[in-house]
Amino acid sequence: MDGRDVRGHYEGLAAEYDEHWVYGPDYVPWMSGRIAEALRLGPADRVADIGSGTGLFAREVAQRVQPRHPILCVDPSEAMLGQLGTLPSADLTPVVASAEDIAEGRARLPYERLDAMWLKESVHHVADPAHTLRGLASRLAPGGRLLVVMLPATIQYPLFEAALARFEELQPDPAVIEGYLQAAGLEAGLSHVEHELRIDRDKYLGMVRARYMSLLSTFSDSEIEKGVEEMRAAHPEPVLVFPDRFAFVLGRRAGESS
Ligand SMILES: C[S@@+](CC[C@H](N)C(=O)[O-])C[C@H]1O[C@@H](n2cnc3c(N)ncnc32)[C@H](O)[C@@H]1O
Repeated sequence: MDGRDVRGHYEGLAAEYDEHWVYGPDYVPWMSGRIAEALRLGPADRVADIGSGTGLFAREVAQRVQPRHPILCVDPSEAMLGQLGTLPSADLTPVVASAEDIAEGRARLPYERLDAMWLKESVHHVADPAHTLRGLASRLAPGGRLLVVMLPATIQYPLFEAALARFEELQPDPAVIEGYLQAAGLEAGLSHVEHELRIDRDKYLGMVRARYMSLLSTFSDSEIEKGVEEMRAAHPEPVLVFPDRFAFVLGRRAGESS
């Protein structure tokens, strides 16, 4: 998908996005806890969530960390950021910009340097990740941390075959992202976290029809319907249970945090 298609995809999804992810009460708090721990966030840190979408995870991180400076929710989609307004938190500041805008200094941020930033499931939308991650890393204060949260190169979701195959074609390899962070001068490491998802089958089929993953937007309506039929036949069980595994690629800039 090019940038315009990506924007269109999220403009269409924004109003329902949180509904898709709040399918279990544990997932968002669990993931937000892992992000806050990996980044060792403290209340004094100046933090940005790059490709924050609706701020679902930033809000939860803010509740945990009680930041003294608002967390910057950076996203090129105004529609996704528009959902921040419905969240009961004054700890989030929306910034309409892309990762590239921040990396290149085209968008001004309220903080000169950042102590921590994360990109959760947004790095695959960045056109030149090596270059952009280098630019983002340059915005870190000494001791600053940058975390890329992404799906691994293969996933075990109960999707139809063609969708799983296309995922593998499109998904960047976390080990390659780790190399980009090292090339950007950060000390980098790769680890994984895993969470078991349990989701009502019909709800999940509805999410696939709503193209909850951007890769599903590469299929026509008839291909999606065919895929949903394939999933229905492969999964007669009323509740789907599958592992949701994420790669955590963490980079740290040398020096002491202030
Ligand atoms: C799968 S959503 C993830 C949203 C959020 N991080 C989450 O995990 O719920 C991907 C987000 O990346 C944003 N995005 C698309 N292109 C981007 C870019 N070039 N830079 C930063 N974010 C981008 C989209 O607008 C969308 O909100």
